[in-house]
Amino acid sequence: MTAGSDGFAAVVGGPALHIPVLGRPALDFLNVRDGGIYIDGTFGAGGYSRAILAAANCKVIGIDRDPSALALGQPLVEAAQGRLILIEDMFSYLDHAARAAGFDLVDGVVLDLGVSSMQLDTAERGFSFRLEGPLDMRMSATGATAADVVNAASERDLANIIFILGEERHSRSVARAIVKARELAPIRTTRALADLVAAVVRSRPGDIHPATRTFQALRIFVNDELGELVRALGAAERILKPGGRLVVVSFHSLEDRIVKSFLAERGEARAGSRHAPEIKGLPPTFRVLTKRPLIADDEEIACNPRARSAKLRAAEREPAAARAEVPSQLLPRLPALADVLKGR
Ligand SMILES: C[S@@+](CC[C@H](N)C(=O)[O-])C[C@H]1O[C@@H](n2cnc3c(N)ncnc32)[C@H](O)[C@@H]1O
Repeated sequence: MTAGSDGFAAVVGGPALHIPVLGRPALDFLNVRDGGIYIDGTFGAGGYSRAILAAANCKVIGIDRDPSALALGQPLVEAAQGRLILIEDMFSYLDHAARAAGFDLVDGVVLDLGVSSMQLDTAERGFSFRLEGPLDMRMSATGATAADVVNAASERDLANIIFILGEERHSRSVARAIVKARELAPIRTTRALADLVAAVVRSRPGDIHPATRTFQALRIFVNDELGELVRALGAAERILKPGGRLVVVSFHSLEDRIVKSFLAERGEARAGSRHAPEIKGLPPTFRVLTKRPLIADDEEIACNPRARSAKLRAAEREPAAARAEVPSQLLPRLPALADVLKGR
């Protein structure tokens, strides 16, 4: 079933600040039960949290790095009468956040990645090339902005970021145009960057806006979205009890590849090595529940175009101990934000 067909949006109630994507299947895979504890690592407009709370007499720990999302969630905290705890944090710390709130293990973790419609539609947040605003793009209220990156990074770093994270074929031309423009004056607004990109990336009627890929790349880079995801998967492995469920909805091929590879690796027994006999075989920590990713049907896409690129993967925690290493080999090779800001 989909958001459109089964009234998921009606179940979650409230104003449609953000229509949850793949909400019904996410809820089904979470297997919500009375007495269970669930982490919604991407609280956003609270769509998933509301639905989990409505599905059973359970508790939800809602996490978001965006303080404005949590402020809007306060009425839901009150309505939930002690069943919803909201925490401002990065989801890479979701295990620490849950333990600090008094929960050693949980029954489910759900991540609905990317930005919310509220973030996208607020011009001052600087996420949208369609709205004039400061070139910000930070989900949290702290750290370097997209303008800091655009005005400081070397041409090579800019091209790599835009190519790898935006999959933009014209990344070199975009980087060259940025460097040329900022020699005259710093690039400070969404419109300035969008116009500059549109001048070098040609598009035909019906294509996506030519700045789409560049904006996506900068957003992912500024918020370290892929690093956050890799660390969150490790955190979920540590905090889920045996039989607990992990559900991840992603919107970008790089995100989906990370989730797929992580689950494939953790879903297999790791063999010991005859060259290093001290390394013992490791049993799998997850059982994959989605051989192929689940995608939205036409009806949901018609109601919510954001659902078009969504992919859901789910897995059940096995009893084996969490593995020590964070699978950082899943990340694309890009310099750290701090190094990029040093420029050249
Ligand atoms: C797509 S929205 C989630 C929408 C939500 N499922 C709903 O139904 O309303 C993603 C949210 O996750 C938050 N977010 C993204 N990355 C995060 C991270 N690394 N740590 C914590 N929150 C994050 C964003 O600030 C945003 O509010």
